[in-house]
Amino acid sequence: MRPIEIAKNVYWVGAVDWNLRDFHGYQTEKGSTYNAYLIKGEKAVLFDTVKADLADQFLNSLSMIIDPSQIDYIVANHAEMDHTGALPKVMEAVKPEKLFCTAKGQQTIEAHLPCDGWPFAPVKEGDLLELGDKTIEFIGSPMLHWPESMVSHVREDNILISNDIFGQHWATSERFDDEVDPGELHFQAAKYYANIFLPMSAGMRKFLAKLETKGIAPAVLATDHGLIWRRDIAGIMRKYIDWSEQKAGPKAVVVYDTMWGSTMKMANAIAEGIRGAGEISVGVYDLRYNHRSDVITEILDAKAVVVGSPVLNKNILPKMADMLTYMKGLAPVGKIGAAFGSYGWQDTIVKRLNEMLTEMKVEVIDDGVSVNYVPKPDDIKRCVALGEKIREAIKRG
Ligand code: FEO
Repeated sequence: MRPIEIAKNVYWVGAVDWNLRDFHGYQTEKGSTYNAYLIKGEKAVLFDTVKADLADQFLNSLSMIIDPSQIDYIVANHAEMDHTGALPKVMEAVKPEKLFCTAKGQQTIEAHLPCDGWPFAPVKEGDLLELGDKTIEFIGSPMLHWPESMVSHVREDNILISNDIFGQHWATSERFDDEVDPGELHFQAAKYYANIFLPMSAGMRKFLAKLETKGIAPAVLATDHGLIWRRDIAGIMRKYIDWSEQKAGPKAVVVYDTMWGSTMKMANAIAEGIRGAGEISVGVYDLRYNHRSDVITEILDAKAVVVGSPVLNKNILPKMADMLTYMKGLAPVGKIGAAFGSYGWQDTIVKRLNEMLTEMKVEVIDDGVSVNYVPKPDDIKRCVALGEKIREAIKRG
């Protein structure tokens, strides 16, 4: 895709990955983009690159506005391979005077790429790169979401080149937030946060506070994935504060796997109990049809998580085991929860699910409901009662 000028002499020069469908376990049903940026002023600076298999496309695109050999410096804000995979080919074409990254960034790049002789120039918090007509401030964003991460603030244009932060996996021909459907944009931003940054929420709060302390209120958030924010900066900033504080609304997620439909019937009865007269929003997710990364997106702002599975060989059905493992890694905090499930000859499933919820620090508010084989009317009533108890707990806050 052709470069796009996002401010005077500042260009988007990335690549669109229309066919990406999995990003280390995160289902990317709408693809992604790898956004890189070029400043073409008194000095030419390239910020970040793209995945290795898009290197040629990226260099062709870059060549539309500059001879790559005329680029003076490269900045690598983040060493993950979706932003540095193309770096060997780009380094060969550019031969920059300096390659700026954090000291940890250098170590991480050296661990991944053949980079003998590369002109690494490690930078630290607050270092400035003077370009004559523009000044770049490097700001650390450690563990957002790798240890070496940093962002680059273009002072004169007040553009924050924010690596993965504020990103979305969404391949579009549009480049700016005001050119696309805002509902889809915010959904994809929430999905990105839930699947990438959720376990780093404490660090995100510190990072956002640091921007405030520095007096940086960006006019443009030039993220490395998806749409660039230039209109709804306040909206996405507010969302990042809420998500990093893990604010939960009157909302519950009921997620389950089912073998012959018994656990599904229980899930629907529990959801009815939670919903009541409609005062609680509840979503019901069958893992045969819903991907873990979509379910965790719903969990992001839910107060309650209710999990269900039948017994399979004394254990949890595989898709629920997958969901719980994924959720444990993403470590949402401040949730309440409960468990349910059906069994044939070993009434063990609810105990096991409760153990797993407790391991991930979900407050289990009830012993849960287990049913032998198929739920009878009294079992359904017990499920509705569990839902009602969850509803009251959510309302208490
Ligand atoms: Fe987009 Fe953490 O890489």
